[in-house]
Amino acid sequence: MNTPDIKYLFEPRGVAVIGASATPGKIGYAIVDNIVSSGYKGGVYPINPKGGEILGRKAYSAVEEVPGEVDLAVIVVPAKFVFEAVETCAKKNVKFLSIITSGFSETGNIEGEKKIVNFAREHGMRVLGPNIFGTFSAKVSCNATFGPKEIRHGNVAIMTQSGALGIAMIGKTAVENIGLSAIISLGNKSDINESDLLEYLVGDEGTKVIMMYIEGVQDGERFVSALKKATRLKPVIVIKSGRSKRGAMAAASHTGSLAGADEVFEDIMRQCGVLRAESLQEALNWSKFIANTPLPIGENAAIITNGGGVGVMATDACEKYGIKMYDDTHELKRIFSPVTPDFGSTKNPIDLTGGATSAFYDSAIKAGLNSPNIHSVIALYCETATFDVENLPKVTKSNFKAFQAGKKPIVFSLLGGEKVENCIVDMKNENVPVFADVYEAVACLGTMYRYYNYLKTDVEHAEDVEIDVDAINKVVASAQADHRSFLLAHEGQIVMKAAGITLPQSKIAHHIEEAIKYAEEIGYPVVMKVVSRDILHKSDAGGVALDLVNKAEVIDAYQAIMHSCRQYDSKARIDGIEVCEMVRKGTELIVGARLDKSFGPTVMCGLGGVYVEVMKDVSFRAASLGRREAHAMIKDIKSYPLLLGVRGEKRKDVEGVVDTIIKLATIIRKCKNITDIEVNPLLAYDVGEGVKAVDVRVLITKK
Ligand code: ACO
Repeated sequence: MNTPDIKYLFEPRGVAVIGASATPGKIGYAIVDNIVSSGYKGGVYPINPKGGEILGRKAYSAVEEVPGEVDLAVIVVPAKFVFEAVETCAKKNVKFLSIITSGFSETGNIEGEKKIVNFAREHGMRVLGPNIFGTFSAKVSCNATFGPKEIRHGNVAIMTQSGALGIAMIGKTAVENIGLSAIISLGNKSDINESDLLEYLVGDEGTKVIMMYIEGVQDGERFVSALKKATRLKPVIVIKSGRSKRGAMAAASHTGSLAGADEVFEDIMRQCGVLRAESLQEALNWSKFIANTPLPIGENAAIITNGGGVGVMATDACEKYGIKMYDDTHELKRIFSPVTPDFGSTKNPIDLTGGATSAFYDSAIKAGLNSPNIHSVIALYCETATFDVENLPKVTKSNFKAFQAGKKPIVFSLLGGEKVENCIVDMKNENVPVFADVYEAVACLGTMYRYYNYLKTDVEHAEDVEIDVDAINKVVASAQADHRSFLLAHEGQIVMKAAGITLPQSKIAHHIEEAIKYAEEIGYPVVMKVVSRDILHKSDAGGVALDLVNKAEVIDAYQAIMHSCRQYDSKARIDGIEVCEMVRKGTELIVGARLDKSFGPTVMCGLGGVYVEVMKDVSFRAASLGRREAHAMIKDIKSYPLLLGVRGEKRKDVEGVVDTIIKLATIIRKCKNITDIEVNPLLAYDVGEGVKAVDVRVLITKK
């Protein structure tokens, strides 16, 4: 069955409300009221078994009776009647179902929800929700929600998994003077999810910024790919709740979907160029700022202030948010000395001092605007007796407009008493970016620069390296035939070899003579380890001997290992004893790849040994990554400087680590029955000397 174009969810030609009611106070009344009041020009069709008229519109007793096209049916009947309503929609060839009703997967009624979605998909319909407040689309001026009647139109699109929060956001955006191009409630995401909506919104001319509230991610692989495409065209701001473990549990029970591990989410969002906000207020600040401000054309920012203290605070904030302060002192002097009072400073921050008047303030801001070397301005103001504050609104508003026209971002932070507060309100009403708090102001510009820097990077596609998929699948299949969910050490090594990952030299001996022969071929010192599917913790069983330097020690170790392992587990099947090279010391890393519950194939890297357990100094990415992103992920580790060489050590072979990450990413993407690979430690040697995968654990799906 064909799936309908997502455009009809945002631009329906006719909307039916199944469960429309003439009783004020009912949700079925509010929705019809909102659609009619919002000025929607398409067909509005209340559906109610009693027929008659609802809010001046003819009510039909069934959707099939509607004469016009119905692209969207809003379903607002109790849960037990929803399936029946969906069946009638199929007869009418409805394209999208917006199911407001609660009482499905979020309360454990998973089967009821599945039945609806399966039926809908079989009949060419798509389902939004259930458990939602509805949809608003400015394009057709249609408020099919049961939220507030008044929605300010504009260029910010919001999608939200939480209904109540979404309704609150409608009110909040109106108060903050943020206009919306769309607001869509996703609820249980039984069918339509964020990726579907992104596909429409990236192409929608009316949307400049996309903001999402997410609790849990489904089909993360598709989401990553949709985000990567979207962020190249528009800024995407995300707030994800469930950062804390308790929060994640609350989110899981709230929406019926499991919230992904926050560290993984955070890193993958960065990989996708998403701007992640900590709080709702931050997300709203950023959305409004980006919606009203042009992207900068360069990275040099100037702080202009009449107060030294706030200038220092803004400088700290610039460092925190990665904003480059313009620091050519000669040029700064040339630009600003004509407009700076004698006691002021033309070093960035440009300090006009407490004696400055609005005329100085105005001229200094204009000097910043007119200089081709300055690309953005942070304008700070502290109330002083000498500053003619009545001129402040005029100065700030006119300069904001001039900066907008000049394609330069400007953000204000004003601090003072009632007159200043009034000025802030006045500026906010005209969408001039202004904050009482310096950090909030700088954070907005910092977010814009983060996006600016992201856009400067080239699009990087996933890199595939050649790996022997057949060899890997064969070893996995044989372990599955053995009803195992893991690979034995030597099988793990086959996987590494098939991907071209360097291992310490090793061979499996089946008797003492063979062990001696292999030790001599490899070269002393060697390590010996038991190979047994029944002994997972080899050291506990006395199954490991290190640093064996000659034939006599190999003979002793062979006998000792066999003896200890038999005592540990007399029934253990022993396949042999692995003789391996005693590896040189190197920097210990951990690298891995796994099928994440939310995001599908992902990779991980971090500093190995105790660091990984105690410091949790690891970073993650979606496995669809190339070399640049693999480098970025290594740089994300706090202990990265250790790889650059400390205390006179040489730089480590970072390229070798990148190669290993790319190879593991290729395995996890191509070999579907592998669920987890962990190389710990991966030893990184000096640059040019490569890396070695010393210990490898591979988990597989059990058959
Ligand atoms: N076709 C058309 N109309 C029907 C049908 C049908 N098959 N069956 C019943 N109706 C009519 C009813 O007769 C009634 O109309 P009336 O007022 O003229 O009698 C109307 O549909 C509504 O039915 P009610 O039984 O009155 O149901 P009610 O309005 O009390 O509740 C609702 C329905 C709102 C869907 C409820 O079951 C529900 O799920 N509420 C929760 C909604 C919600 O919170 N969703 C999440 C939002 S996000 C957030 O958290 C804010």
